Amino acid sequence: MKDYIIKDEWKIIEDKYVAEHNQITESLLSIGNGKMGQRANYEEQYSGPSLRGSYVAGVYYPDKTRVGWWKNGYPEYFAKVLNSCNWIGIDITVDGEPLDIAKVKVIHEFYRELDMKQGLLSRRMDVTLQNDARLSIDSRRFVSMHNDELGVIEYSITSKNYNGPITIDSYLDFDVVNQDSNYDEQFWNVEQSMAETGNHYVQASTKKTNYTVGVGMENRILWNGKPHNQSTEQIAHPKKSSEKFSHHISEGDTITLCKYAGITSSMNYEVNNIKSKALQIVNHAANYTFDELLANHVRAWSDIWEMCDIKIEGDVSAQQAIRFNIFQLYQTYTGQDDRLNIGPKGFTGEKYGGSTYWDTEAYCLPFYLSTADETVAKNLLIYRYKHLDKAIENAEKLGFTCGAALYPMVTMTGEECHNEWEITFEEIHRNGAIAYAIYDYIRYTGDKSYLSEYGLEVLVAISRFWAQRVNWSQRREQYVMLGVTGPNEYENNVNNNWYTNYIASWCLQYTMEAISLVKEENIDRYHELMKKMDFATGETKKWQHIVDNMYLPQDDTLGICLQQDNFLDKEIIPVADLDKKHRPINQNWSWDRILRSCFIKQADVLQGFYFFEDHFDEDAHRKNYEFYEPITVHESSLSPCVHGILASKLDMEDKAYEMYLRTARLDLDDYNNDTEDGCHITSMAGTWLAIIKGFGGQRIIDDKISFAPNLPSQWNSLSFKIKFRENLLQVNMKMDSSEIINLAGPQLEIIHNGNNIILPKTA
Ligand code: BGC
Repeated sequence: MKDYIIKDEWKIIEDKYVAEHNQITESLLSIGNGKMGQRANYEEQYSGPSLRGSYVAGVYYPDKTRVGWWKNGYPEYFAKVLNSCNWIGIDITVDGEPLDIAKVKVIHEFYRELDMKQGLLSRRMDVTLQNDARLSIDSRRFVSMHNDELGVIEYSITSKNYNGPITIDSYLDFDVVNQDSNYDEQFWNVEQSMAETGNHYVQASTKKTNYTVGVGMENRILWNGKPHNQSTEQIAHPKKSSEKFSHHISEGDTITLCKYAGITSSMNYEVNNIKSKALQIVNHAANYTFDELLANHVRAWSDIWEMCDIKIEGDVSAQQAIRFNIFQLYQTYTGQDDRLNIGPKGFTGEKYGGSTYWDTEAYCLPFYLSTADETVAKNLLIYRYKHLDKAIENAEKLGFTCGAALYPMVTMTGEECHNEWEITFEEIHRNGAIAYAIYDYIRYTGDKSYLSEYGLEVLVAISRFWAQRVNWSQRREQYVMLGVTGPNEYENNVNNNWYTNYIASWCLQYTMEAISLVKEENIDRYHELMKKMDFATGETKKWQHIVDNMYLPQDDTLGICLQQDNFLDKEIIPVADLDKKHRPINQNWSWDRILRSCFIKQADVLQGFYFFEDHFDEDAHRKNYEFYEPITVHESSLSPCVHGILASKLDMEDKAYEMYLRTARLDLDDYNNDTEDGCHITSMAGTWLAIIKGFGGQRIIDDKISFAPNLPSQWNSLSFKIKFRENLLQVNMKMDSSEIINLAGPQLEIIHNGNNIILPKTA
């Protein structure tokens, strides 16, 4: 855990240069707009530890799978989100010495901040170079939320004592690599580089997938605040285009460069139009000052914040954290493009390939349901609907038949691209989360027509998978499910993972209900779908038999559901007794030691209690929580939030608060020692859940939105807006009172602490 980020309600601040923190800060201060993203790399040269990252949404490379021992059914590739053109590069050379903060003689001042209200990254530093030239640098940059193909940088250099030559080289560089490349391959073929005054451009296409990305650049120079028209040098290298400005600077002079970059791709344009579009974007933008463009960007952010801000009074640390989480979520996914999804690292790093995981359905969906237009959550569901054929193919590859679907654990296009057998083949509970998301969406929005439009086909295909994946155990006279990995990835190839068996059985039941509902509400569509899916009436008979006879391991003495068969044979040791030097165990222990231990990576049985809380009474919740949480190491970012919600429900105030801070500040405080790889974007939705469902006690009960506040004593108040169907509510909660205002929409009946309340129609 680290504690160097300064606490502030709206800003993420680092006020010292520490080389070992650099990669972490690069992740934390990443900026993005749903279409592209950029790590907080320095503009100028930097020789210290750094992960350079500039990403374009949806543009990926199928990196050939690398495994020790090939197994039939493995995917051929792992989809990698690509480090794309470096558009931020500005190299400074002072009397022949490059500016590089890792090599300067003295750092007089260093300060970086990400202003989340404005979506603006800025830096100030005052340094003396080895040649004794003292310079101060002020830089600001953003990727526009207003025009999502535009990035802008304002970079100022002031000489504090130096009189002499200086060069500023502003460039676009497509000579880039991914650090996580499996075979040290370069993923791009650079096709064009052009450098003419006012027209700088580079273009490259990905190998194999053939995506094209084009980046245009314009630069404007101000000398002591006034436009400066001295001619510059235009240099086109094979993979790079640069504009070089050389001048004599005197003590007290300030040179300001405004750099505009237009980033376009074949995701959105015909290849032939990419170049003209990129140049058009920068040529147009260059008519405006940095501040003018920033104002549009800030307005777009202000609309987002207006809808989704959460205010916490009395606790700056918690306030900063929730805003950071919301900010990163919206930087990653704005919901405008149904081909895109929410990668676990968003645009903040390479790890996890930028692809889609079960995280979207299990964690992110409720956030977008409550803070964005309904179409956003629907797009996330349709994304999986569009991948249904691929999920059926994927199941066929593994030997399943008759339209059974196994959705991938990790995907970019619907194809599986995860390659560790114990996860690829065995972590099949992901199918359950996809079905659960359909249920969750309909429960929240009331949009039952989704079933006949899209949902039922997905549910039936998933149910067909479960019906084939279980087997009848003669010995138990029940259905069992063998050789799986549950959400707790610190156990592999187990039999009867309670969560997987439970969600499978629930899916079958829910699908049968969904079939009946579609039949009732839209008989023509029902017949059409039954034909399309080649649905045999006997199928539901088998499903019902499975539901009635599913084996769910439990221990009656302890009153708990058992994570898997024989779990209690393990030596049960609380995490509290584990020497701190062993943590995180995934960085300190051999894999076999982890597998044999009782330690749980993330909510597993408790994930089931979170999803299906109304299936269990409070005593069952408490017993299972008290058994499992103490042996959980929370080494998945997805873990603390679920535990936080359950702890709130069980009135375990301290635990709920501890879990909240852990999920909310996971990256800010680098809890799991891995923020340098990128931020944990999908679990950030879990932070939102921990507040709204945890402390706010928000649920849907009998088709109504319900609240049951349970604020931590550290907080004076909690306020947020929430969309529910046609209504927009303002919720203000204090320790002993709540105020819920119907900001927009018709009269609404809600539930507060178990009481039904009518909120009148907005005037
Ligand atoms: C977790 C998975 C999760 C993945 C991506 C892993 O560490 O165990 O549940 O899907 O990270 O967030």
